[in-house]
Amino acid sequence: MAFSPEDIAEVRSRTDLVALISEKASLRRVGRRWTGLCPFHQEKSPSFSVNSEEGFYHCFGCGVSGDAISFIRAIDHLDFADAVRFLAQRCGVTLTEDPTQAGQSQRRAGLYGAVEEAVEFYHQRLLSAPDAGRARDYLRSRGYDGDVVRQFRLGWAPDEWDALSVALKLPAKVMEEAGLGFTNRAGRQQDFFRSRVTFPICDPSGKPIAIGARILPLRDGEAPDPRRGPEPKYKNSTETPIYVKNRTLYALNWAKADIVRADEVVVCEGYTDVIGCFQAGIPRAVATCGTALTEEHFKTLSNFAKRIVLAFDADAAGQNAITRVYEWEKTHSAEVVVAAMPAGSDPGQLAREDPETLVAAIASARPFLAFRVDRVLVGADLSAPERRAAAAERALAVVAEHPSDLARDQYVMSIADRCGLDADNLRRRLEQLRRDPEARAKLLQDRKTQSRREQNEPEPSNAPRPARLDPRSRPGLEALRIAVHFPERVGTRLEPSLFIDPVQRSAFQALLSAESLQAAVDGAGDAEAQLLRQLIVDEPMVEVTEVGDPVEACIVQLVRTAALRSLDGLLARARTEPEKFAELSEQAASTRRLLEELVEPATSVAAEVALVQWISEQEGALP
Ligand code: UTP
Ligand code: MN
Repeated sequence: MAFSPEDIAEVRSRTDLVALISEKASLRRVGRRWTGLCPFHQEKSPSFSVNSEEGFYHCFGCGVSGDAISFIRAIDHLDFADAVRFLAQRCGVTLTEDPTQAGQSQRRAGLYGAVEEAVEFYHQRLLSAPDAGRARDYLRSRGYDGDVVRQFRLGWAPDEWDALSVALKLPAKVMEEAGLGFTNRAGRQQDFFRSRVTFPICDPSGKPIAIGARILPLRDGEAPDPRRGPEPKYKNSTETPIYVKNRTLYALNWAKADIVRADEVVVCEGYTDVIGCFQAGIPRAVATCGTALTEEHFKTLSNFAKRIVLAFDADAAGQNAITRVYEWEKTHSAEVVVAAMPAGSDPGQLAREDPETLVAAIASARPFLAFRVDRVLVGADLSAPERRAAAAERALAVVAEHPSDLARDQYVMSIADRCGLDADNLRRRLEQLRRDPEARAKLLQDRKTQSRREQNEPEPSNAPRPARLDPRSRPGLEALRIAVHFPERVGTRLEPSLFIDPVQRSAFQALLSAESLQAAVDGAGDAEAQLLRQLIVDEPMVEVTEVGDPVEACIVQLVRTAALRSLDGLLARARTEPEKFAELSEQAASTRRLLEELVEPATSVAAEVALVQWISEQEGALP
C-alpha cells in the first residue's frame, strides 16, 4: 500500500468514530457504548453498537463490524486509499504518499496542464474577443484596467455551451477531472463555466489549479436569460486532485512576497476584495474560495506571517465566529486581528470608494477579542447604571471564551474601566459565566439581535467612534505598545518628537515622566489615558524569528516615518524661503543618506542616533 502504517494508525486514532458515524446514523449513549439503528440494514430496534475508546463498531443484527476506515469504505463506496485520504483530511493528518506512484503524478500533471490552458484561453478571450466587450466594460466600470486584468489573469468564459471544450480538444475525462467540463444528459461534452468573468486560482507557486467565475450584472431593464435557471453570483471549480478548497488561498501566489516582507497577511472573503486591496496599495491580501477559514488555511498563513488581519465584510467578522481562533493562535503562534469595515461595505467596494479608509481600517486592526468586546461596548447605551451593567455582562460573555486567565483579566479591567463598574464584581460574574455556557450563549444571542437593531439606528452622538488612524501613525502605535510592555527594549532610544500623532506623542511623554504604568495613566489626559489602557491589554509580539526582530523593525519604521515627515517640512520651507534653498537641500540630501544607512546593519546604530537628533531639532523648530 502507498501509505505508511504509522500514518494509517494516526488516522485511526485521531478519528472520532462516534462523531463520524453520527453523521450517517443517530447514536445514543448506553453506559460506555453507543447504540443505534444499523446504517447497513433495515431494522426497527437498535442492534448497532459502537465502542468509541477502541474505535470499533459491530452490528448484532447483520454482523457487520469494522473501524473508521471500513465504515467509510462501506458507506461511501470508496476504496481503501480514498477512504484513508478522506479521513486523513478530516482529522488533519498529512499523508506521505509513495512517490513511486508515477501514475498519480502523471494524472496530476495532466490536470495542471488543462487548467493552465483554460486560464490562458479565457484570458485571451477577455483581452481581445469581440464578444467579451461587455465583460471588459463591466471590469472597467469596477476600476480594473488592463494592468489589473493581466496581473490577475482575469478572463471571459464566452456565452457558449462548449467554447473551451472545442478549443482545448482534451479528453472528456480530463476536462471533467479538472473541473472544467462535464458530460450533459445528451452525452455531449459541455463547459462548466459559461458567460462569466473568470478568476484563476493558483497554488502558492503560481500554477493555476482552479477557477472562480462571476456572472455579469444585468443591465437596466434586462431580464435574466429564460433558457437558464437561477444562477449563483459566483461559480467555483469543484474540488479535484489538485484543488482542495480547505487548503487553498486565492492570490497567495501573488501576495506571498509582500506577506513575508510585512510579516502580515490580510484575509478577505472574496476575489474582488483581494484585488481591491492590491489596488489600494496592500499587496498582501488573500481570500478563501467560497468557504470559511479552516485551520489548514490558518496553518499555511502562519508559516508566512505572524500577524493575520481579518478583513471581512462588515458584520461577518465578529459573528462568523471562528470559534477556535484562540486555539489556532496558540498552536500556530500567530496573532489574529480584525479590521473594522464601515457598516454595509466590503474591502472591494471600499478600495474603490474610499481607499484611505480601507488602508486605515487594516492598519488599525485590533486583536480578535478586543474587536469583539468593542463591538459590544461601542455604541452600547452606557448612560444608566443598569444599562452599563447589561453591556458589561454581554462583553464578559465574549471574554469568557478566551482560554488564558491573564488575557481575560486584562479585558475585565478594561471593561470595568469603560463601564465604570467594580472589577472584582465583574471577575465574579465572569467566573460564573465560564461555568455556564448556556447563559453565555444566551447573552451572545441577545447581543446579535441588539447589534442588528443598532445598525438601523443612527449612532448616538456621544458614542466613541472607531479611531481613523492615519497610516503614518501606525509605527508610533506599535512603538508605544512596546514602550508600554517592554520599556527595557526601548530604553532611551525614543524621543517624543518621533511620534507624529499628537495623542501618541503626549502618551509617550506621560510614560517617560511617570514611575509606573499606573502613574502614567493617572497623570495623562483623557485621550492619552484611554490609548494607554487600550495598549495595556494588547500585548505585542516581540519574539525574534528568522524574519527578524520585530522591536528593531518597529523602531526603524518609527524613525523612518518621522524623518520622512520632517523632510516634507524641510522641503516646504525650502519653497517659501528661497534664500535658504541651498542649505536646506544640502540637509535633505544628508538626511536621505542617513535613511539609507539606517537599513544597513553596519551603519544603522549611528544613523539612528543622528536621525533622532535631527528630527528633534526639526520638530523643535516647527511652530
Ligand atoms: P460576496 O457575495 O461578498 O462577493 O462573496 P464579492 O466578493 O463582494 O463580489 P463582488 O464584489 O460583488 O463581485 C464573497 C465570496 O464568496 C464566494 C466567492 O468566493 C466570493 O468571492 N461566493 C459568493 C460563492 O462562492 N458563490 C456565490 O454565489 C457568492
Ligand atoms: Mn463581498
